Amino acid sequence: MARALGAPKFACTQTHPAASGRQRGAMDRIRIVGGERLTGTIPISGAKNATLPLMIASMLTEDTLILDNVPHLADVGLLQRILGNHGVDIMIAGKRPGENGDKGRTLHISAKRIVDTTAPYELVSRMRASFWVVAPLVARMGEAKVSMPGGCAIGTRPVDLLIMALEKLGTDIEIEGGYVIARAKKGLRGGEFKFPKVTVSGTHTAIMAAALARGTTVIENAAREPEIGDVADCLNKMGAKISGAGTSRIVIEGVDKLHGARHSVLPDRIETGTYAFAVAMTGGNVLLQNARPELLQAGLDVLERTGTTVTPTNEGIRIARNGAGLAPVDVTTAPFPGFPTDLQAQLMALMTRAKGTSHITETIFENRFMHVQELVRLGARIQLDGQTATVEGVARLKGAPVMATDLRASVSLVIAGLAAEGETTINRVYHLDRGFERLEDKLSACGAAIERISD
Ligand code: EPZ
Repeated sequence: MARALGAPKFACTQTHPAASGRQRGAMDRIRIVGGERLTGTIPISGAKNATLPLMIASMLTEDTLILDNVPHLADVGLLQRILGNHGVDIMIAGKRPGENGDKGRTLHISAKRIVDTTAPYELVSRMRASFWVVAPLVARMGEAKVSMPGGCAIGTRPVDLLIMALEKLGTDIEIEGGYVIARAKKGLRGGEFKFPKVTVSGTHTAIMAAALARGTTVIENAAREPEIGDVADCLNKMGAKISGAGTSRIVIEGVDKLHGARHSVLPDRIETGTYAFAVAMTGGNVLLQNARPELLQAGLDVLERTGTTVTPTNEGIRIARNGAGLAPVDVTTAPFPGFPTDLQAQLMALMTRAKGTSHITETIFENRFMHVQELVRLGARIQLDGQTATVEGVARLKGAPVMATDLRASVSLVIAGLAAEGETTINRVYHLDRGFERLEDKLSACGAAIERISD
């Protein structure tokens, strides 16, 4: 059992990256001894991909935005520092007596005075989403100089559609020395446009900018991800007039000013899916507390097709798999409500043990198969042909040292390691810390033999 590791050498007493500001053991590794079934309860945290745009949206008002259910993640800590660079004050509300790690934090965010409208390369290059500050800066200050984010492990990820949206709202854009220089001296004005492809970042940027534009904005072919809806809900609490978020047609009546509000971040559907796939991989019975099935229906449907039991409850979602093997599935990633690209790697790990052959096609990012060769190191059989991976299920995986390459790829190696015979060591887990809160704690509390090793 977790005891398979013997008393863990390193208890999870780490200070939190955001709190210490230092990167939590940049060379930390995770060690797993596979074969343990997972049983118990896993509390699902607030969503990283809602928290980041919500924190950025706080710059649209001089008042304080209070965010509850904020996850403890390296990306959140980094964004705190990036916003601080613009003059944003963030106060983390202390834990109330009896509160444990399961309850997210509360941030009091005040962008009373924006002292700098430049987002430097040193910061933006560390986290792409910080490029989105261009929207509140140009909307509120009439100018912004923001570094282009640069390349990314999973794809080229240009920002041309974000720039297109800002131009449609009356922004003059220049690209100079790797920076986007955006100006709207007379303020933004509403506009109508259609995204040529669904883009989450483009939709967030357009909504934030249009909220303070003069007149009406209509966005066609908008992203429908639940995180878009969460940001729109929060902005409407701040006095914005946004309708249609969550559909592909969003209408925004611009207002002169936004005010403070309090908003609780929605649960993380990708964290939910990740642990659901982990239970399917190891067998077991786990309650994913706070999880909401409607945020992840496509993922849950795929899980049921593998023969795993998915039961929504009042507290969340119960995932169980006993005995029977895993059925292979063919899946193609797509924008919401389709199967999320952020669960593609986790699904691939699961299918390495299916009774048969699966085909997984990635349509969102052109280079999101970095985990394939690492899974092959654990004994998986995977052939790549363009954007499709053919996964031939094997009877067993065997533990080995593997390398994390990006956030979601790294957690697919954790899922594989939980079922592999013997010991798996995952290197460069700082990728994991960007998007998974207390992963080792949550899994070891359900019986996994997992620990973090810090040199
Ligand atoms: C968001 O990225 C998420 N990140 C990603 O999660 C997620 O994979 C992605 O949406 C898709 O769901 C955050 O929310 C912080 P896009 P984003 O704009 O907004 C192309 C994770 O693991 N595109 O919807 O950057 C782009 O290259 C991360 O948590 C343009 O061509 O994704 C991609 O192929 C990874 N031009 C596609 O559109 C643009 O201007 C979708 O990108 C913008 C995007």
